[in-house]
Amino acid sequence: QNEIYEGGLRGVVPPFPMSYEELEARARAALPASLVSYVAAGAGNEHTQRANVDAFTKWGIIPRMLVGAVRRDLSVELCGLRLPSPLMMAPIGVIGLCAQDGHGDLAVARAAARTGVPMIASTLTVDPMEEVAARFDGVPGFFQLYPPDDRKLAESLVRRAEAAGFRGIVVTLDTWLTGWRPRDLSTSNFPQLRGHCLANYTSDPVFRSRLDRTPEEDPAAAVAHWAKTFGNPLTWDDLPWLRSITRLPLLLKGICHPDDVRRARDAGIDGMYCSNHGGRQANGGLPALDMLPAVVDAADGLPVIFDSGVRSGADIVKAVALGATAVAVGRPYVYGLAIGGTEGVVHVLRALLAEADLLMAIDGYPALADLTRKALRPTPATA
Ligand code: FNR
Repeated sequence: QNEIYEGGLRGVVPPFPMSYEELEARARAALPASLVSYVAAGAGNEHTQRANVDAFTKWGIIPRMLVGAVRRDLSVELCGLRLPSPLMMAPIGVIGLCAQDGHGDLAVARAAARTGVPMIASTLTVDPMEEVAARFDGVPGFFQLYPPDDRKLAESLVRRAEAAGFRGIVVTLDTWLTGWRPRDLSTSNFPQLRGHCLANYTSDPVFRSRLDRTPEEDPAAAVAHWAKTFGNPLTWDDLPWLRSITRLPLLLKGICHPDDVRRARDAGIDGMYCSNHGGRQANGGLPALDMLPAVVDAADGLPVIFDSGVRSGADIVKAVALGATAVAVGRPYVYGLAIGGTEGVVHVLRALLAEADLLMAIDGYPALADLTRKALRPTPATA
């Protein structure tokens, strides 16, 4: 993790940008316009998306001295897995298309193998989940399920994830409809983008059995059938069924209210994923970080993954101090992928981890367990 920092001290200039702003600018130049707007877009006037990022400035880390934090331990346990750090890669549906060779899911899986940072592979991939998982090289991965209303199809996707070696299922609850995203509505390209990311469906035996002709013979019919299965939400009544279809750890993504956490706990869910989808789904909401402490308290010891607005190592430290077990990033690694493939993703992840590690050293918090709410104070402007 200190490679970048120590290289910098020797005057080695990293091949990829060190600031999020420059990373985004370089990715915008590298990606086709339709993908730029799809990745960057937030809901409405994007107030919540910006608030996600700004929320981190409302907290300051209090430095502790004479701790001698020469060695740091960033490792963490999540759903029975020992991870080298709390960092994860959030599920991103179009990453397949964000790599120059059009196989971004595989490039990100290779970055997971290189860094030990788990990938949460989206349902919407260019390459089927089995091929993604084959590149993890022993690093645990999670499969993100957009639950189709066809239960047999949902079960088939989950069975395949189990067989492919994924170590947990993240069920996304907040995206059974696509949010009101003016940038996307003005380019109206997302149906086409998603149409390229249906490999998990078109390779699925149950999905194929629902079609009159194979997806190869009639790609448009495959896309239309997928769209039909997509727009129906899960409800609490579905949770017993969801729980019954797998023994893998189940986490619910998009859970932000403590009452929902308690109800999910009672339904046997193994962990919560506190997120507002990076501000892409609903505008006018609270920043995700503001909802994290109540989710953690209600989770009462169950693990909580957090994402939305994480842009730096300091953000990771703050989210952990507010109780997150693991912290996921979305857009930062997509931008790394766009400009440098696997190398770009590895760079982004290592830079985030190096900054978090260095901060824990300088601020005197040698282990994640030392990062509690006592390590933070609201900054004066917000106190
Ligand atoms: C997403 N996200 C997402 N989430 C999910 O559960 N399944 C998916 O397929 C996708 N696809 C997706 C595409 C793009 C382009 C973006 C930007 C996001 C949401 C993602 O997992 C995560 O919640 C946010 O990206 C986190 O916010 P930041 O880090 O991007 O601010």
